[in-house]
Amino acid sequence: MKKVKLNLNKKISLSYDICIGYNVIDQVGLIIAENHKASHYVLITDSNVSRLYGGVVLGIFQNLGLNTTLIEFQAGETSKNIQTVLSVVGQMLKLGVDRDAILIALGGGVAGDLVGFIASVYMRSVPYIQIPTTLMAQVDSSIGGKTAVDLPDGKNLLGAFHQPKAVFVDLKFLETLPNTEFNNGLAEIIKYGIIDNLKFFETLEQKADAIKKQDRDVLSAVVEHSCRFKKKIVEIDEKDRGIRRILNFGHTVGHAVEAASGYTISHGNAVAIGMAAAVRMSGKLCGFSIGERERIWRLIDVFGLPRYLSLTIRTDEIVERLKMDKKKEGDKINFVLLKRIGMPFVNSEVPEAIIRETIEEIKR
Ligand SMILES: NC(=O)c1ccc[n+]([C@@H]2O[C@H](COP(=O)([O-])OP(=O)(O)OC[C@H]3O[C@@H](n4cnc5c(N)ncnc54)[C@H](O)[C@@H]3O)[C@@H](O)[C@H]2O)c1
Repeated sequence: MKKVKLNLNKKISLSYDICIGYNVIDQVGLIIAENHKASHYVLITDSNVSRLYGGVVLGIFQNLGLNTTLIEFQAGETSKNIQTVLSVVGQMLKLGVDRDAILIALGGGVAGDLVGFIASVYMRSVPYIQIPTTLMAQVDSSIGGKTAVDLPDGKNLLGAFHQPKAVFVDLKFLETLPNTEFNNGLAEIIKYGIIDNLKFFETLEQKADAIKKQDRDVLSAVVEHSCRFKKKIVEIDEKDRGIRRILNFGHTVGHAVEAASGYTISHGNAVAIGMAAAVRMSGKLCGFSIGERERIWRLIDVFGLPRYLSLTIRTDEIVERLKMDKKKEGDKINFVLLKRIGMPFVNSEVPEAIIRETIEEIKR
C-alpha cells in the first residue's frame, strides 16, 4: 500500500497516514489490529455499503479476534442528521461502547462526516478511522477532519474538526460504485487539477479515457496525487481560515445550485456547473485567459459533467442561496477565482451584477 503522511504541525498525536491500495481490505484489518488497539471496534456504515461490504469487513475484523460490532443507517444525505446521530449513539450505549473504543466509518462522505461527528462528541470524543468507499470520499471528504451533520436550515451546520487516526483507501470498492457517484468524485479531481498545477491538469487531459475506464494504475496515481494535494492544504490550514478555502473552488455557486434544485442535481454535477461559472467570473474580473477557460470546459465535457443549468432555476433563487452560504463573512460572499490554472485566490468583492450576469450565462 502507498502511504501518504498527513503531518499536523506541532500536533504529532493528530498526524496520520492515508494508505492507498487495491484489494487491501484484509491488510487494513491487520494494520488496525496492530497499530490501533481498542477494546471495541464499531463499524458504522450505510445500508447500501452494508449490503455490499458490511459482512465481509465485519468478518475480517472478527477473524482477527477483534471485538467488532456493525451498526447500519439508511443510505443517503437525508440520514446525515441529528436523528441518525441519536440512533447510532443509542445503539452504542446499549452495547456498552466506552472511550476505549474506535469507531470506523465505512462508506462515502455521508458515513465519514456522520461517524466523524459522532466520534467528536461521544463521551467527549473517541478516536475514529476512515475507510472511504466512494471516489469523492477517497480523494476528499475522508481527509482533513471536517465532520458534520445537516440541519433543516442547511448543510453541515453542526460539526467539528476532529481528525481521524488513519484513512484507508481501497480502490476495489469503486468497482461497485454507480457511474453518477463516480462522476461526483471526478468533479473534485478536476477541481484539484485546476487549483493545484498545470502539470496535474495536463495529466487529467491526457489520461481522461483511462480514468473514465477506471484503469487501475492510472486511477491509483490520480487518487494518490489528489490525496497528497488535499493533505498538503490541510497541513497548512487545518481549521479552514486561509488557504484551505481554495478547496471551495466551484463550490460557492455549486452549493447554491444544489440547494436551488432541491438536491435533484448531484453534488458533482453542481460543482462542475459551479466551476464553469467560476471560470467565467475569473475571465470577467481577473483576466483569466480564454485558452485556459476552453481547456477547463473541455475537461468538464470529456468527463461527462454538465456546465449549464436549466432555465427553470431562477437567478434570484441562486443569488438568495449564495447570500445564505455559511462560508460567507458578513455580507461578503467568498468566491474562489483563478488568475491562471494553478493560481486560485479568494475574492469576496465580486459585484452582484457580475454574479447575476454569470448565472444568466450558464443557463440553457
Ligand atoms: N468532510 C469533508 O471534508 C467533506 C468534503 C466533501 C464532501 N463532504 C460530504 O460528503 C457527502 C457526500 O459524500 P458521497 O458523495 O460519498 O455520498 P454518500 O456517502 O451518500 O455516497 C453516495 C452513494 O454511494 C453509495 N456507496 C458508497 N460506496 C459505495 C460503493 N463502494 N459501491 C456502491 N455504492 C456505494 C452510498 O450508499 C450512497 O448511496 C456530503 O454529505 C458532503 O457534505 C464532506
